Parts: sequence; C-alpha cells; structure tokens
Amino acid sequence: MTQSSSQPERIRIFDTTLRDGEQSPGVALNHQQKLEIAHQLARLGVDVIEAGFPIASPGDLEGVQRIAREVRGPIIAGLARAGQADIEAAARGVDGADRPRIHTFIATSPIHMKKKLNLEPDAVVERAVQAVRLARGFVDDVEFSAEDATRSEWPFLVRIFQAVVEAGATTVNIPDTVGYTTPDEMRALFAHVRENLPGHVILSSHCHDDLGLAVANSIAAAEGGARQIECTINGIGERAGNASLEEIVMAFHTRQDVYAYTTGIATRELYRSSRMVSRLSGMPVQPNKAVVGDNAFAHESGIHQDGVLKARETYEIMNAELVGREAGVLVMGKHSGRAAFRKALSDLGYEIEEERIKGLFAGFKDLADRKGQIYADDLRALVEARTDIPQT
Ligand code: KIV
Ligand code: ZN
Repeated sequence: MTQSSSQPERIRIFDTTLRDGEQSPGVALNHQQKLEIAHQLARLGVDVIEAGFPIASPGDLEGVQRIAREVRGPIIAGLARAGQADIEAAARGVDGADRPRIHTFIATSPIHMKKKLNLEPDAVVERAVQAVRLARGFVDDVEFSAEDATRSEWPFLVRIFQAVVEAGATTVNIPDTVGYTTPDEMRALFAHVRENLPGHVILSSHCHDDLGLAVANSIAAAEGGARQIECTINGIGERAGNASLEEIVMAFHTRQDVYAYTTGIATRELYRSSRMVSRLSGMPVQPNKAVVGDNAFAHESGIHQDGVLKARETYEIMNAELVGREAGVLVMGKHSGRAAFRKALSDLGYEIEEERIKGLFAGFKDLADRKGQIYADDLRALVEARTDIPQT
C-alpha cells in the first residue's frame, strides 16, 4: 500500500447524466423527471450539471431552461457544437442560472475531421476559436472539448487547446469519446497537455466505458492533472456508458491513502441518486454493480458471513451507510454458515438453544440445496414446523 503525503486536491465533479446519460439507447426523460434528477444532483453536491443539448429539440431547450432557473448550487451547463446556432441555443438554455456555462466541442481526430466533418485541421481550429469567442460573448464560463481526443495527434491537441484558451475557454476537456484509451496513456496525455497550458485552465476528463476502463481512465486523468471529471450516475450513457460517478467518488474516498483527491460529493446521497436515476430512466442497475448494486454489500458464503459478524471490515471495504444504504445484509443460502443462521433466527425474534440450532441447521441446508435463496418466511416455517424434534 502506498502512502500519499500531499494535501488532497479538490476534483470537480461534472455530472452529465442529463445529457450524455440521456443519450443511452431507449432513455428519454421528460422535463419533470429531469428537474427531479437535477435537484437530487444538487443535493448530492456535484459541481456542474450538464443539463442537456439545447439545439437538439425544443423539449431539450426547455428542460435546460427550467433547470437553469430552478436549481441552485451547481454550475448549469448546456452543450453546443462549434457553430453559431448551437451556441445561441445553449446561451438561451443556461440563461437564468446563477452560474451558467456553455460547453462547446468539435472533433479533433484525423478520422473524425476527415470522414465526419470533412474539414482540414486549420479549419477545425478556426471553428473552435470562433465558437469559444461567441460563447464568451454570452457567459464567462466556457468549456471546450476536443471530441475523440484520445485518437487525436498530441501536437494538434495542444495547438487547438492553446488557441481556444487564448479565445477565452476556461476549462479544456479531453474526452475518450470511444472508450479506447488505457490508464497509462490517459495519465501521459493529461500530463503533456498540462505542461503546455497556463495553470489557471482547468483540465477535464470525459471517459466512455467501451473497454470497461472508464473509471480507471478517469482516475488516471486526475493523476495526470485533471481537476474536473465528467461522469454519470450508474455510469449510464452512449453505448457502454460513461464513467460511473459513484465508483470514482468512492474510490477516492476509500483509498485516500493512495489518491490525494477530494470531491464535494455528499456520499450519503449516492444510493438515493442511483435509485432515482434507475427508476426515472428505466435502466436497471446490475445486481453486482459496485457501490450501488443490490449485491454490493450482501454476503452469501459462510466464511464471509462469519467474518462480517465478527467484524464488518473483514469483508467490507466501505461502510454501506456511508453511501446511504442499509448495513450490509447476510443472504441466506446453501453457502451460509451456522453463525449467520443463528443470527438470522435471532433477528426474527427466535432465541433457540444451541442443541436445537444444530437440528434446524441441517434442515436449513437441505432446504437451501433445493430452493437456492432462503427468505425470512422460509426460516419461520422451518422453526415452526419443528421437524428437528424427534417424533415419538
Ligand atoms: O464523448 C464525447 O466526446 C462527448 C463530448 C460532447 C464531450 O460527449
Ligand atoms: Zn460523451
């Protein structure tokens, strides 16, 4: 275990559940649902809420406007491609926010510039600069993203970033748009960009999860100099999704000995946020999902249950209550041991002498073999049936 000695650095959490998260196939949130989530994100303590993509539809514009007018605390951002109509729509969207931000982007990788934009690199730089200048005419806080940055050439990235910073961008985002990069590459890319931009510019990461590396890549970006991380609740988003907010926050929180970073997140709001987003988006959370999945704090095997009954830290690296959940549960099944069985009976109000527990435990194992998971009613039936008492 390494020990971090420096003062923790504050990482800003930029939540894009309502923009990139809503781009998950099949998800469409109405205004009321967006507003409900935005209020919860404010309670959770995110620094920035990306409320939507105002040019996308009149509904999206209205959703961003309502959030900008009604949600207080976080910066409210609206997304815009690097073009006049997009930026004007984003400006109308975030108007009314205490702290509005326009987030503008253009692709910088050779494949995107050639095949998608059909633009020469010089023209891409020119568009980016024009977009940032225009956005700065509406708001002081402008973020620029180089779409597909991790497949872009580093000298070109530095060139376009220096140009947009000169034009007034205050945050520069380096997205791994297609979830292609690795933690080592990400750390090195951020360190390189950091060295080539003035210190006041905030570097941001935005990772997709196509290879299941989004959280690891986001953390590596912080190690390379990112001070804003873009992520979503439950990791929802385009294709395989975005970096998962709750996993990043709890990794920093749990491994403070390794990562010298803090966030402003009220961790006890994490579970509630996860449930709300799942309910309103209609996207279920997989049971084994870290931090917020149903099984994340459930113990099934006898060895683990016995350990947890003696000391929770034996098999729990973080406290369930810390993320707003009930204490870890012991799931009764065929792997459960006698200590957990005794505890489950006692929780149901049965104080049973050890001799009888032995007989009941044999019946329980038998039942678990046949039935899989055993619920409270099964345990009650077992005790009430008294099959363990020899018939005379
Ligand atoms: O993945 C991406 O590149 C994006 C940008 C718009 C930031 O979502
Ligand atoms: Zn994205």
